Parts: sequence; C-alpha cells; structure tokens
Amino acid sequence: MRLDKFICKSTELTKTQAVELILEGRAKINSDVVTLESTQVHENNQVTLNGKELVARPFRYILMNKPANTICSNIDEAYPSLFNYIEEGNNEELHIAGRLDADTTGLVLITDDGHWSYNIITPNKKCEKVYRVGLRKPIVEDAEKQFAEGVQLQGELQLTRPAKLDIITPQEVLLTITEGKFHQVKRMFSAIGNKVVSLHRKKIGSISLDVNEGQWRYLTEEEVNSFSK
Ligand code: URA
Repeated sequence: MRLDKFICKSTELTKTQAVELILEGRAKINSDVVTLESTQVHENNQVTLNGKELVARPFRYILMNKPANTICSNIDEAYPSLFNYIEEGNNEELHIAGRLDADTTGLVLITDDGHWSYNIITPNKKCEKVYRVGLRKPIVEDAEKQFAEGVQLQGELQLTRPAKLDIITPQEVLLTITEGKFHQVKRMFSAIGNKVVSLHRKKIGSISLDVNEGQWRYLTEEEVNSFSK
C-alpha cells in the first residue's frame, strides 16, 4: 500500500494533509525518513508519523444485495448511491468490484482493497459471475452454442469470452460470464436478437447472495481469501 494511503487508513487525515506531512519529512518507514508519498509500505514495515507508530485500519470486504433504482457510484446522481445503505463511515474509501446498472439488482462486492477487487474484475482471472436474466422473447435454439463460442458486441473488436447459458424457461435463463464490459449481458442478448427485461446477479466466484434486498454483511475470511489466488 502507498505511504499516503497507509497514513490516511491509520489516522483521520485527508490525503492532502498526509502528503503535506510526508513532504515535510515527518513520516518514517523503519526509522528512515521518506518524503515520496507513493513509497510502498510492506507488511512488516513499521511506519511512524511525528514519532508516533501507526497501525492501518484493516481492509473492508462487504457483500450487498443491490436494490433497483440505486447506482454503483460513491455519490448520488439520477438515483441514490448504493453507499447510502452502508452506515459504517469512511465510505469514500470504498469502491465496487464490478458495477451493476441502475435497473439491475443483486450481488455487489464492495471493498477498499484495490488488489483484491482486481482479481474479481480482470477477465484474466476468469472469475465467474452468474446472472438471472428475464427476456422479452423466447430464447433462440442455438443460444447456448452462440454464447459458448462468443458473440460480437457492437463496437467491440473481439468476440465475448466463452459464456455458459442455462435455460430455466424459454424467457428466463442463467448466464455465467467471466468478463464485465459495459452493459455486457444486455448487449450479449441484443447480439442474438433478444432483449433483457430483468437482470439480477446471483453469484460471484463461490459467493452466493444470502441477504435481503438493501441489506449487507461483511465477508468471512474464507470468502475474502477465495479471490486471492
Ligand atoms: N451486464 C449488464 O448489461 N448490466 C449489468 O448491470 C451487469 C451486467
């Protein structure tokens, strides 16, 4: 973690205040004065500020069931921010590991640990996200094959990565994908001549949604570690 972030996470200081103190030579890592705010603090480093040892607050890992008509943004816009539901404070430090559209409901993972969320978001790690999708028209017969082979989204150079389709009824399906392009699910169904009328994320990796709409909980250590490989 960067030194300025470490100081913010272990004090009530803002980033600007932390950087000022670092530039003034008030911060030390293992008794060496450090004046570069981007210096990395490693696990066993001792950090002091004005001679006082700092202990960083632990990272937070949150699971939430996103209601419709809320947005995955730190501030209210056309709809209220999802963060209004989390009353823990310091919400500006949090970000969402894979946003949902305003009208999409379901599982959202929220954290202040950027390395952890990278493992969930990057397509290279092949972290599976499962969506329950309501469709305007019955699904075409070869949809499973089309999604397994990849479909061409408008404006993209490459086909989508292999995705798995499970048909519940002709107009309700489960789709499992490992990437998260803008409006990915809606665009995938549009690419095969259909339209998404409802969208709900059920699962990310091995974590299934188990709280009611608008509610949240901290992840267990085991759940957190399930994304760290
Ligand atoms: N794909 C979409 O189209 N919308 C979402 O909210 C999530 C995935």
